[in-house]
Amino acid sequence: MFRIGKEEIQAIENVLLSGKVFRYGIGGECNRFEERYAQYLGVKHCLMTSSGTTALTAAMVGQNIGPGDEVLVPACTYIATAIAVLAAGAIPVIVDIDESITISPAAIQAAIGPKTKAIVPVHMWGLPCDMDAIMAIAKQHNLIVVEDACQCVGGGYKGRKVGSIGHAAGFSFNYYKNMTCGEGGAAVTNDDKAVPRMGCMVDCCKFYWTDRQTDESLFVSNGSRASEIEGAVLNCQLDRIDPMLNIMRGYKKRILAALADTKLKPIQANSLDYEAGTHVMFVLPTEEQTLKFQQLTGSGIAGKTGRHVYTEWDPIFEHRGAPYDALNPYLMEANKGCRMDYRKDMCAASLSILNRTAMFGLHPDRTEAEIDAMVERLRKAAAEVL
Ligand SMILES: Cc1ncc(COP(=O)(O)O)c(C=O)c1O
Repeated sequence: MFRIGKEEIQAIENVLLSGKVFRYGIGGECNRFEERYAQYLGVKHCLMTSSGTTALTAAMVGQNIGPGDEVLVPACTYIATAIAVLAAGAIPVIVDIDESITISPAAIQAAIGPKTKAIVPVHMWGLPCDMDAIMAIAKQHNLIVVEDACQCVGGGYKGRKVGSIGHAAGFSFNYYKNMTCGEGGAAVTNDDKAVPRMGCMVDCCKFYWTDRQTDESLFVSNGSRASEIEGAVLNCQLDRIDPMLNIMRGYKKRILAALADTKLKPIQANSLDYEAGTHVMFVLPTEEQTLKFQQLTGSGIAGKTGRHVYTEWDPIFEHRGAPYDALNPYLMEANKGCRMDYRKDMCAASLSILNRTAMFGLHPDRTEAEIDAMVERLRKAAAEVL
């Protein structure tokens, strides 16, 4: 979804020629990106990481989510959401999505149990979750909200950027995301108290390079430090994001308006004006019609990407939560009593929605003529299938 060009090449060249690719001691590109991205999102703290998974893990550990806790995750997300929960030592509990293709507030309500500590709303495919409802439930039940904003970089919800609404959030900057530096991520929060623990997850040995006297070293972690090359690329990417998303949001609205007189039913939108606009999706009445529609239009089907549905999470289903039994959250004494009995049909309602959802990815470099041709293709297919 991203754009990349000469600015990034120049920025990388500058870093390489400076001879300083390590982030500490120079106040360079990583620091600059962290400050700028925090400001862009409207949050107090941003820590660059090596990936979205490590960012989410740091965000969870910062909120003291760990052994003994259940964390509600949606049936439709990349497996990394559940992996981050396990990496913190907690147990993911899978709950249904609704026709917004994001976690269902009603399913969250129904799933809350005595061990539930947190909710992870995942803003899938650029689509923000119903954050008003989710934050209200969290407040009512004293739960923590860690937003998985990996697939919604730059997206918003009712005027606020995703990632700035919950207690903490994780972003990914891998190859498939709206901003990329190849691989990378960011953990963000407004919670001052969370920062030392988050920072320790990102680099527990930072004290060697910064101020040994004042640096708080809390525990050992693997670390997930970013480099100046990544910081340099992300500073360029941040300059590009808003114009790019504006084009895609515009295209999406144009497509939806042009097809409003057909029988195609767009997915439910939680915040159409602010979402990332990277995907257009329609829910069809039956799976047969969705397959036919796919054949005629070349659409994707949300339930058939091979990696975004809980039924594809093999290590989770098999309780392979760590390389050693003693480190495996599924076997830990503290997690006895957490719900971990996963079944392939446990979120049948989600599977039905996902297998009936046709999806189209947008790109800012598509032309208006291409968008109009797409509309005509969809119109013809809708008339044939519905
Ligand atoms: C929803 C979601 N969460 C988490 C991740 C993990 O990000 P990364 O691959 O950077 O670790 C991804 C990556 O694809 C994702 O799509």
